[in-house]
Amino acid sequence: MGLLITKTVSLMTDIKPCAPSADRNKQVILQALLPLLSDNERIFEFGSGTGQHACHIASALQNIIWQPSELSDKLSGIRQWIADSGCSNILPPVELDLSLQCTSEFVPTMCYSANTLHIVGWKMVEELFRCSASMLSGDGKLIIYGPYKVGGQHTSDGNEAFDEQLRSSDPLSGIRDIAELDELACDVGFLKAEIIDMPANNKLLAWRKPG
Ligand SMILES: C[S@@+](CC[C@H](N)C(=O)[O-])C[C@H]1O[C@@H](n2cnc3c(N)ncnc32)[C@H](O)[C@@H]1O
Repeated sequence: MGLLITKTVSLMTDIKPCAPSADRNKQVILQALLPLLSDNERIFEFGSGTGQHACHIASALQNIIWQPSELSDKLSGIRQWIADSGCSNILPPVELDLSLQCTSEFVPTMCYSANTLHIVGWKMVEELFRCSASMLSGDGKLIIYGPYKVGGQHTSDGNEAFDEQLRSSDPLSGIRDIAELDELACDVGFLKAEIIDMPANNKLLAWRKPG
């Protein structure tokens, strides 16, 4: 009986996580990133989730190096996605918790994150920008995908309802305003964001450090 339970638990932990939303948006994100990327980009990702974006983008662009990061309980799922992708240009995921002061041995030319800023509290949003600015040198980029408010207003009823749902489960979370993010980005040394409209009322925001 004891053996049976152990085996069941071990099988459960082997299940590969899958985020349907990442499957839906990975290709449009790749297409939007293409004109923004330089050759041989070294990309550090915050809040990689399952690792589906890392695997899709890195398998399409063999000349980049991708460093995923996540909270510790997500790392084994990302490892499974990387192993199944067969990509040699994705590094093993590293543990990174935005509620702590973040550092990394990886030296990126670009930082990337998707759908994280509305999940974590504002202090962690600040840490993501601070950490990105400290890792990137001149001309480095920070690119963040997700839903945003513009001029304090939601861009769709769906985003407004999503924001209410987020804040009712965690009052520190919620959809961020582009102007507030721009202010934060400028404070840590980035130029004003380039804004790219994406499907389903999302946007890709691209900040650059001056060269
Ligand atoms: C909505 S998911 C997005 C995942 C993935 N980027 C995507 O687009 O599919 C938000 C992610 O933020 C991560 N996250 C939450 N709190 C975090 C923290 N304190 N530090 C780093 N990541 C965190 C979660 O583990 C989760 O994977």
